[in-house]
Amino acid sequence: MLQDTFGRRFYYLRLSVTDVCNFSCDYCLPDGYQGRPDEAFLSPNELTQVARGFAAMGTQKIRLTGGEPSLRNDLPEIIERIHTIEGIQTVALTTNGYKLPQRIKTWADAGLTQLNVSIDSLDPNEFQRITGHDRLPEILAGITEAKALGLAVKVNSVLMKDINDDMSAVLHWLRTNPVTLRFIEVMETADQQVFFRQHHISGATIKERLLVDGWQPVARKLADGPAQEFWHPAFVGRIGLIMPYSKDFCATCNRLRVSSLGKLHLCLFSEQGIDLRPLLQPGVPLSGLVEAVTHHLGDKSAGHSLIDHNSGAMANLSQIGG
Ligand code: GTP
Ligand code: 5AD
Ligand code: SF4
Repeated sequence: MLQDTFGRRFYYLRLSVTDVCNFSCDYCLPDGYQGRPDEAFLSPNELTQVARGFAAMGTQKIRLTGGEPSLRNDLPEIIERIHTIEGIQTVALTTNGYKLPQRIKTWADAGLTQLNVSIDSLDPNEFQRITGHDRLPEILAGITEAKALGLAVKVNSVLMKDINDDMSAVLHWLRTNPVTLRFIEVMETADQQVFFRQHHISGATIKERLLVDGWQPVARKLADGPAQEFWHPAFVGRIGLIMPYSKDFCATCNRLRVSSLGKLHLCLFSEQGIDLRPLLQPGVPLSGLVEAVTHHLGDKSAGHSLIDHNSGAMANLSQIGG
C-alpha cells in the first residue's frame, strides 16, 4: 500500500478522463470550457495502464472525474476495463448528471458502484442560473434510478453566499431521501478570485448552522475521506461537510490524482503535476510507473496551500477533476 512520509495511506485514485465540460458553474467555468475539446486526453489503453499500476500499488478505489466524464463516448468501456482489474473493488464516478438518466443503466452494467452528482440547488431556476443548464428534473430522476440499481449515491452542493445559501430546501429533501448530501466550501482557484471573495462561506459557518438544527457529527473512521459526516434522527439522508480550509483537512488525505493528460498530482492545488504519460505506452513495463509514483510520493507535503498566490494555482477544478 502506498504510504507517504506522514503515514497517510493512499488506496484511492481520482482519475480524470477529460477536461471538457458542458456546464458553466459559477465557481468553476463561468464562461464555459475554453480549452480545446479535441485535446488528446488519455486513451482507454492509457487509462487502463494507470489503473493497473495503481492497483499494483494497493489502490482499491478509482473515481473517474473530469471536466464532465460522461462527455466521453467510451466511458462505458473505460468503466468496464477498470472494473475488471484485480484489486480494484470500487469504480466511482463524479458527474454533473447531464447524461445520467440515459446512461446510468449502461454504466451500472459496466461495473460502476458509486456515483457522486453535483446539484447546487433544488430550485430549477436557481439550478439553471448556476450551471447554465435546465436538466434538474431529469437529473433527480436519474439519481432515483441509480439508487434502484443499487449504486451508492452522494450529492455535492457547493454553497455560495447570496446565491444558494438558503439550505432549507435541500435539508427538507433529506427528510425522505436516503442519500448523503455534501455541502462543499467553495475553493479559491486562479480563475475566480473575485467571485470567491464575494461568495465564500466558511465551513465553520455551515457547521454551526447544522449543529443548531440538531445535526450530530458521526465519528470518523480511519478510511473515511475528508468529508465530516452528520446525521439527524428526523432525517433519512445524511450530510457530509467538505471544508478544505479547516485545519485538519489534509491529515486524513487518502487520495492521489492523475489528470486527463496523464500528470500525477499529489494534491489538488499548487503544483504542476508529474508527467506519467511516457510510462503508459505499450512496451513500457508497469514497474516504471510504480517506481515513478512511489518515488514522487516522497514529495507530498503535509498540507495544501490553498491558495498560494505565487505558485500558479489551479485555474479551475475541471483541469484536475476536483
Ligand atoms: P468520495 O469518494 O465519495 O469520498 O468522494 P469525494 O468527496 O472524494 O469526491 P467528489 O468528486 O464528489 O468531490 C467532492 C468535493 O471534494 C470536490 O469539490 C473536490 O474537489 C473535493 N475534494 C476531494 N478530495 C479533495 C482533496 O484531497 N482536497 C481538497 N481540497 N478537496 C478535495
Ligand atoms: N470549489 C468547491 N467545489 C468545486 N467544485 C468544482 N469547483 C469547485 C470549487 N472551486 C466541485 C463541483 C463537483 C466537484 C467535483 O467539485 O461542484 O461537485
Ligand atoms: Fe463542469 Fe463540474 Fe466545473 Fe460545473 S463544476 S463547470 S459541472 S467541471
